[in-house]
Amino acid sequence: MTAQPSGEFSAAITDRLQQARWFAGKGQGIGAVAVLDAISLPDALAIAIVEVTTAGESSRYLMPVDASGADVTATPAFAGWLIDTVWSGATHAGEGGRVIGHAVGSRPRLAAGLPEVLLLGPDASNTSLRVTMGDAAFAVKLIRRCRTGIQPEVEIGAFVTAETSWRGTPRFCGWLDYEPADGSPATTLATVHEFAAGCESAWDRMLALVRAEGCDSPRLLAIVDALAGVTAEMHAALASRSNVVAFAPHTPTAADRHAQAGSLAAHADAVCRLIAAPGPSLPPEISARLRAVASRRAELVSRLEAVAEIDAAAATIRVHGDYHLGQVLLTPDDRPLVIDFEGEPGRSLDERRAKTSACKDVAGMCRSLDYLLRCAARDGGPTYAAADAANLQQRYVAGYASRVSGQPWWPAREADADALLAAYVLDKALYELAYELHNRPDWIEVPLAAVETLLVGP
Ligand SMILES: Nc1ncnc2c1ncn2[C@@H]1O[C@H](COP(=O)(O)OP(=O)(O)O)[C@@H](O)[C@H]1O
Ligand SMILES: [Mg+2]
Repeated sequence: MTAQPSGEFSAAITDRLQQARWFAGKGQGIGAVAVLDAISLPDALAIAIVEVTTAGESSRYLMPVDASGADVTATPAFAGWLIDTVWSGATHAGEGGRVIGHAVGSRPRLAAGLPEVLLLGPDASNTSLRVTMGDAAFAVKLIRRCRTGIQPEVEIGAFVTAETSWRGTPRFCGWLDYEPADGSPATTLATVHEFAAGCESAWDRMLALVRAEGCDSPRLLAIVDALAGVTAEMHAALASRSNVVAFAPHTPTAADRHAQAGSLAAHADAVCRLIAAPGPSLPPEISARLRAVASRRAELVSRLEAVAEIDAAAATIRVHGDYHLGQVLLTPDDRPLVIDFEGEPGRSLDERRAKTSACKDVAGMCRSLDYLLRCAARDGGPTYAAADAANLQQRYVAGYASRVSGQPWWPAREADADALLAAYVLDKALYELAYELHNRPDWIEVPLAAVETLLVGP
């Protein structure tokens, strides 16, 4: 591969890009595609770093390709190369930079020969694979959208493995970076974790339980208790090392609290402006309800600004950041394993790494429990009742709070904890409104009902 890939190669990549599910700019038309670097691998494969300009904005993407530009991510040759490179810490140079493997912790000897590869999940913003080599199996995630800087999945994976004894997440084995030759910050291209065999996502298992046994299924309630436990252990681990700067709990100053409240309020303001003109494609009844929420913008903003006055003492910590039932695996005996510490994909890496209230994660899970019951009801399960959702949420929050009572990151007074959590639940529901409006308009009723209920509340 040369520094200036041929026009034919670029054209082939453009073509493949347009068909890729993970390509965020799909549907908007691609203005220009430039292959920034192409790092040659064995077997005539290459890692292409591609810059796509769409509507004036450019983004970079990772594409492992063969000589014809076809995507080879889910092939044994590429997956085997990737594991090998991570295990050995090898580097492979291109014209503009190099890819480099990093291993974490002990490395079991791997069976020789090509691995078996299975594509996992929806191949949405990332591509996840199960890669099996003899007795060992790995979950490999290709992070398609290249962002420079520290990737929280790597930072948290390495921290948890090296600095804590928490094992409520699959073991992090290593990662692959691209380092530009000009010394600018690296980009994480892929992560490797131990594959948790026999697991199912908490979302799938709980949805099946609600449908089959209803909202008071004893097994469902036991899973909610286990989720409360794993959330508390996760936060305890993330907050456990005051000598590691990126993870040390931070006692917010008054200025920090005003900044945090200000950003919650600004988010509410932006969402209200967005939903004030929801567009012609929604049912008129939904549009009217969205406009009614938007008309209460000042009230929402001032409610979130008031967060600055809550509990001066609760520390901010590193959090999961995109915590919901799809980010938890359940072992066959319902033990939870937390995955996917990348944070919210729509935010910058620095925003995702910022310390914040533990309520962000607790609120994320509360909202996910509401989605679960709404989704079950749509799919032939029990009719949705707000009281059932509140019951699961209260059980989860009470289980969490009882475990973290006395910890510096949880407000000492129950009233403060309730107020802070309510603010983060509102923030999450507003985030969901914007998300569903853009991506799944027929789901907008779910966060809309939540925001309406919160507006009626105390
Ligand atoms: N360590 C693992 N063991 C088993 N399955 C996993 C593991 N990590 C991820 N998966 C599977 O891959 C899917 C996607 O992983 P995730 O890290 O959540 O990626 P995404 O960024 O696409 O959400 C998960 O829902 C799960 O089914
Ligand atoms: Mg995920």
